Amino acid sequence: MADELIESILNESRSFPPSKEFSDQANINEAKAEEMRKLAADDHIKYWAKLANEELHWSRPFSNTLDDSKAPNYEWFNDGEINASYNSLDVNVSKNPHKTAIIFEKEDGKSESITYKELLLKTSQFANGLKKIGVEPMDRVVIYMPMCPEAVIAMQACARIGAIHSVVFGGFSSNALKDRIEDAQSKIVITADGAFRGGGVIPLKQATDEAVSQSSFKVNNVVVFKRTGENVNFNKGTDIWWEDLVADCDLVCEPKPLNAEHPLFILYTSGSTGKPKGIQHATAGYILHAKTTFSWIFDIKNDDVFWCTADVGWITGHTYVAYGPLLSGATILIYEGAPTYPDVGRFWSICEKHSVTIFYTAPTAIRALMKHGDEIPANYDLSKLRLLGTVGEPINPEAWIWYHKVIGGEHCPIVDTWWQTETGGAMISPLPGITNTKPGSCTTAIPGIDIDIVNESGEPVDEPNQGGYLVIKKPWPSMLRTIWGDNQRYIDTYWEKFDGKYYVAGDSAYRDEDDCHWIMGRIDDVLNVSGHRLGTMEVESALVANEKVAEAAVVGRPHEVKGESIFAFVVTKGNRPTGNDAKTTQEELREWVASQVGSIAKPDEIRFSDNLPKTRSGKIMRRLLRAIARQEEITQDISTLEDESIVKQLQGEE
Ligand code: PRX
Repeated sequence: MADELIESILNESRSFPPSKEFSDQANINEAKAEEMRKLAADDHIKYWAKLANEELHWSRPFSNTLDDSKAPNYEWFNDGEINASYNSLDVNVSKNPHKTAIIFEKEDGKSESITYKELLLKTSQFANGLKKIGVEPMDRVVIYMPMCPEAVIAMQACARIGAIHSVVFGGFSSNALKDRIEDAQSKIVITADGAFRGGGVIPLKQATDEAVSQSSFKVNNVVVFKRTGENVNFNKGTDIWWEDLVADCDLVCEPKPLNAEHPLFILYTSGSTGKPKGIQHATAGYILHAKTTFSWIFDIKNDDVFWCTADVGWITGHTYVAYGPLLSGATILIYEGAPTYPDVGRFWSICEKHSVTIFYTAPTAIRALMKHGDEIPANYDLSKLRLLGTVGEPINPEAWIWYHKVIGGEHCPIVDTWWQTETGGAMISPLPGITNTKPGSCTTAIPGIDIDIVNESGEPVDEPNQGGYLVIKKPWPSMLRTIWGDNQRYIDTYWEKFDGKYYVAGDSAYRDEDDCHWIMGRIDDVLNVSGHRLGTMEVESALVANEKVAEAAVVGRPHEVKGESIFAFVVTKGNRPTGNDAKTTQEELREWVASQVGSIAKPDEIRFSDNLPKTRSGKIMRRLLRAIARQEEITQDISTLEDESIVKQLQGEE
């Protein structure tokens, strides 16, 4: 696309109204949105109660909408009973059993489809299998799977019987898997023999074996789905092939009515301190938000084919692959492999092949594919697309405009959805039929969600374009309930800053004169690498666990494609490596971090110094390190440094 065109659009800071054609058919039009906003403003409780009654099927109706007696441990609909899998599968089977639920695109280019009826049968059968090996309500089940329908089946099966799933992204290392098994105290792990990715195979079973053998918590059973057919180690006594487990299981499994507050899942995410935290979500509130936002934001219709590229190992894959779409009876696409396999046109070829109508991905993917030029998508018929979405990190206006013009053919609204693992579903997003979008802004909160930007003292920042803390002012049904096993950490992390008055998201943001919100980034030591959250401390802990490393400090640096890249400053034991020795040690440490956490945590750059810059009181001067990593001018006072010459080493000059 011509640079002048981008320039002119950016200079105008243009907003993009939805086309009349789109607005006319949208699920949420002006009148509907107005009615919803009014009800939510007049009576927040009534608003959510009405939705919960209209949208969900209850085994026992609730009368208690919000219980704030244990705030900030809010509870929703807590005298009602419900089942998430029943709401996802049985309800839709009764409407249209033969509708396609999942189109599965394999990395080798073959594909298959599963109807709602088949999905219900497979889920029920697997749920019976889980029961057979002793899984009971409240038991935790770790799922470490490739992207395939069975990952969704495993999640739905847990939900059906009241087990709490904890999905671990298949890109995490055995060590990270072990930490999560231990923290969740999971007796069962569901995995596969391997995952096809980028033309190769990721040895998931091998990683599971390592994790299970090193775990201080005893795992009773490992269920292994045969995906690749590779030869894998098989531990008699603990391991069971998925197919053998279900072979003699009934195809009917009654969904268990569960209290609305019954934990649906735990999903680990990074914080600024300590180990990843297990974000715990409750059944009814979470599925309510997943279902409603899916319909409002993605404007889903009966004949849409929805593709969210996120892995089920992340919250996006939970809410907009495994739950939201199925709760809405939609057809989703699941793609198993790498976006660039066998070539960089793969995403667009899948859109063409399966007539994808709604496409949802991360800005990193858009930027990476944009680099290959407009000619690649031009080779494919993308005319079926009618709505595009982004999530996970701020999208730069250039990428937004490319997405709009080259992928969306200028007729697809773009929904830039802001949310978090903790919020359960999208919170700030355009409603595609009515919102004037602006490249780079996630616009305004959805109806029923009350957000603000406040200053250090918690007062609203009313001036436009002034940054502050992004907060959520009222509890909402899909909010996290706690951090698994550490309620104090929940209170301290999200509520302490403003004395329990607001939920603190951890992002800074500003609002412009049109009431559009712009996310500026994290206010804590959390990085956002390719749309994935990573604590600097997680990478630092991994580095110092290496025998060669004495000290490490990790900072983020803006990156053209990944949004942020990881920059590590390392002090080794013994002499500082230089020349070839430095190169080898850097590579060794990068691999080491990958083995400790996962490839996504590999530092992009590692620089060695004799010492880290510290104040006289011993605090690492992170701001200085950030400036050095970003090659910015140093404005910090370095006279307090014990050894000023260190700066030159850190800058890579010595
Ligand atoms: O910093 C925000 C960024 O991602 C963080 C949440 O990360 P995670 O829990 O992994 O969930 C990501 C997928 C929902 C937020 O605190 N973030 C998420 N969406 C956006 C975003 N930043 C800017 N724009 C977004 N649309």
